[in-house]
Amino acid sequence: MTATIIDGKLAAKNLRAQLTESVAKLKADKGVVPGLAVVLVGDDPASKSYVTAKEKACAEIGIYSDDNRLPENSSEEELIGLIQKLNQDSQIHGILVQLPLPRHIDENKVIMAIDPDKDVDGFHPVNVGRMNIGQPCFLPCTPHGIIHLLKINNIETKGKHAVVIGRSNIVGKPVAALLARKAEGGNATVTLCHTATKNLADFTRQADILVVASGRPNTVTADMVKPGAAVIDVGVNRVEDSSYEKGYRLVGDVDFEAVKDVAGWITPVPGGVGPMTITMLLYNTVQSATMKAQC
Ligand code: GUN
Repeated sequence: MTATIIDGKLAAKNLRAQLTESVAKLKADKGVVPGLAVVLVGDDPASKSYVTAKEKACAEIGIYSDDNRLPENSSEEELIGLIQKLNQDSQIHGILVQLPLPRHIDENKVIMAIDPDKDVDGFHPVNVGRMNIGQPCFLPCTPHGIIHLLKINNIETKGKHAVVIGRSNIVGKPVAALLARKAEGGNATVTLCHTATKNLADFTRQADILVVASGRPNTVTADMVKPGAAVIDVGVNRVEDSSYEKGYRLVGDVDFEAVKDVAGWITPVPGGVGPMTITMLLYNTVQSATMKAQC
């Protein structure tokens, strides 16, 4: 069997076309241009490239992006001061602070400083709480993107066994919560595996849907996958490769070449989950601006 390759780029393109129309309509009907403030502290190359991609995506669909770059040695107070200013700025509907932050800055304090109504990452405890009790909120971008990819590929979740590897606040825990909730795209029986899980393969082999967010290449090999399963690879790892111009290539957390011959569906890296993460950020920003325009 060869898996259907889930095309995240195409899914993102289609959703971004719809968002472009929503942005144009918001501007024409209400005179509102959605605004996203992007905040990057320091020079981490991967974070820089993510932030650049997010700003480019904003420009492509007509969202105004406000670029805020702070030096690595900025203080927590400076960063929180900037966030407070952005909270008050009526042209800004979403605030994104790229993570990870330098070690001397308390990530939790920074996230807590963002107005929950501008928290388009869905990281503020108010939004995490709302999501977990089924109230309207900004859904975290990568988990929301994964649920969307399952939906448009007609991959049933109801009554299925979903196994998630990784318990991060950004991906593992929220995607497990979304898959378990009593709602469309949920209703799965969910197992959350992590670094202390014994005999990981015993769990992954039971998965109808396997979401891998371990941050480690080859976490999932072909012998760990149930034939026909949907395998969603969230990993983005740089592997040295001198045959590439940049000196590295990107791989996920799944042994793609081998697993594609066992799985029913699989997301590639790059071109799978990644484009959806950015698209859901745009989605949340448009949602925020739309809500503001209705007030
Ligand atoms: N770092 C890695 N993923 C993300 C994300 O989705 N949002 C933010 N703000 N930082 C990240």
